[in-house]
Amino acid sequence: MENIRNFVIVAHVDHGKSTLADRFLELTGTVEKRKMQEQYLDTMELERERGITIKLQPVRMLYTVRDVGNVGVDRNEQFEQAERSNNSNKQSDQTYILNLIDTPGHVDFSYEVSRSLVAVEGAILLVDASKGVQAQTLANLHLAKTQGLVIIPAVNKIDLPNARTARVKEELSYLLEIEQDEILEVSGKTGENVEKLLQAVIEKVPPPNASIKYQELSIKDQSRALIFDSSFDAYKGVIAYVRVFDGGFKRGDKIASWATKAKFDVLETGFFAPKLIASAELSAGDIGYIATGLKDPGLVRVGDTLTTFRNIEISTYRNFQPLAGYKEPKPMVFASFFPENAEDYDLLKDALGKLKLTDASLIYEPESSIGLGRGFRLGFLGMLHVEIISERLKREFNLSLIISSPSVEYAVKLTNGEEVKIRSASLLPDVSKIGSIAEPIVDIEIITPSSYLGSVMELVSSFRNTYKATEYLGKETAFLKYEMPLSEVITDFYDKLKSVSSGYASMSYELTGVKIGDLTRLDMLVAGELVEPFSRIVPKSKAYYEGRAMAAKLKEIIPPQWFEVAIQAVISGKIIARESIRARRKDVTGYLYGGDVTRKMKLLEKQKKGKKKMKETGRVNLPQEVFLKMLKR
Ligand code: GTP
Repeated sequence: MENIRNFVIVAHVDHGKSTLADRFLELTGTVEKRKMQEQYLDTMELERERGITIKLQPVRMLYTVRDVGNVGVDRNEQFEQAERSNNSNKQSDQTYILNLIDTPGHVDFSYEVSRSLVAVEGAILLVDASKGVQAQTLANLHLAKTQGLVIIPAVNKIDLPNARTARVKEELSYLLEIEQDEILEVSGKTGENVEKLLQAVIEKVPPPNASIKYQELSIKDQSRALIFDSSFDAYKGVIAYVRVFDGGFKRGDKIASWATKAKFDVLETGFFAPKLIASAELSAGDIGYIATGLKDPGLVRVGDTLTTFRNIEISTYRNFQPLAGYKEPKPMVFASFFPENAEDYDLLKDALGKLKLTDASLIYEPESSIGLGRGFRLGFLGMLHVEIISERLKREFNLSLIISSPSVEYAVKLTNGEEVKIRSASLLPDVSKIGSIAEPIVDIEIITPSSYLGSVMELVSSFRNTYKATEYLGKETAFLKYEMPLSEVITDFYDKLKSVSSGYASMSYELTGVKIGDLTRLDMLVAGELVEPFSRIVPKSKAYYEGRAMAAKLKEIIPPQWFEVAIQAVISGKIIARESIRARRKDVTGYLYGGDVTRKMKLLEKQKKGKKKMKETGRVNLPQEVFLKMLKR
């Protein structure tokens, strides 16, 4: 156990975690050079396409250092020293097991980060030398500190021509209250100082500390492992990704999960290389996997404790102490998902169960609607999360879905005094029955270089907000604090913030409570029919603007039909905006050439009649693309 180091890399989005991990994989020979590809640990197709990490990814690396006493010293120098003292055979090579968990940087996936942190003892805090400290740098640093992890700060991308390494080091030393020379300067791209960073991990991160080792287990002792993630395999069933804290597990062991009370035999144990590699056992301090053989994803819950029950029945677990789990993530945004074909309901249900295994922050509950049949209401951590899950359901499970406009959770007071929680505009009661509508409020913190302060403040003023404070980190980095309704923050605020600050400003937010707002329901009609999924709850002051914007967008993305299609935005029965999509024209006269013009007229007349009939009976069939595009503002 002395030679195990468990650590994560945390950073703001795009500060170079996955690229640094690539260098670690190369350096330790975990991945052969010819098999190496950029951002190796981002294995999901969507991750590679978008260049972002969505899921945490553990990997075990082996690394040999000559004489640990010289850690931090250049390897050549170590060698020379050994030569000089002429006692090289006294020096023992030390091989370390380095368990790294690569984590996502985007705020929507911070639940992945918080789970990784519980499984490790140290964290590399990476900061982009051209961007400096950003919102998720702080948020993740805070998480790591709360967890009591050893923090190893490093400034990354020092090879960039616009790197401001000295300034960023200054910011970091101020933030962490440490000397600047404790901060490493690295480049994940060129590999500069990456080995030094790895050696710093060995030197500074403590080995795991466990009360009982596997070999010392007595019949009365319990082994304990915390599930931090999971996946599904058709043959091995649910695979639990675990950090073993006490004792150990091996194939054939009879084990149980604490919260779900599931019992099973261990099918296989192993490590992440980063593919799953079977091992004889998993012992205290290890990060690895346990194949459970269970087919029901619901039985293996992230945050639960796995334990052996050897000769002890699960009913006598009274004295058993489960490991501290995770704070359940609180969904911020909700959207309804209905299968386009009603018979796909079970497929959708199955798909959600499987997605939940790899994304513990996803929540869902059944829902039904008169117009759309049976479906599910899903809860998400943010808009990027909505987009990613929608995209995964489409790609990985081949499902065609109707997706409603995402909504926050409103607390509606009815005139009869009752209070109801509404997570979808289409469920809002009639206006005459509503006393008030309260919406969730967040404290938002924007970090921006001082030079963009003006444009950021101007942007915020176009959203509903209450100014709270401005603070500074050094001279050139400002923190702006506001209170805003959550629904304002989750729209296109983030994209606009990026664009007014040339990508430099970043933000994080925290739910603080609810406040009554002046809100109303906005509906969209397509060809005269209400399309429930497009209904939204909007502030009255913005209703006209929103209605016009939605109608214009729908006009752009609904494919033309054989007849003209009207798109209307409606508030309380009043049409506030209208657009129309021109009919598609099929050239019914194409095969006529020359000849009698009346024949051509006759054909066109026939087509017109046909279209009229179609318009009377025709409903516009909205393809899934339309719903997916409406999710992106
Ligand atoms: P998320 O996980 O999505 O937050 O991103 P990440 O932190 O893993 O960043 P990633 O490794 O994907 O790198 C983001 C971008 O920065 C990529 O285009 C990399 O090629 C680039 N990059 C990473 N490290 C360096 C570096 O040291 N120097 C330079 N010049 N570019 C780098």
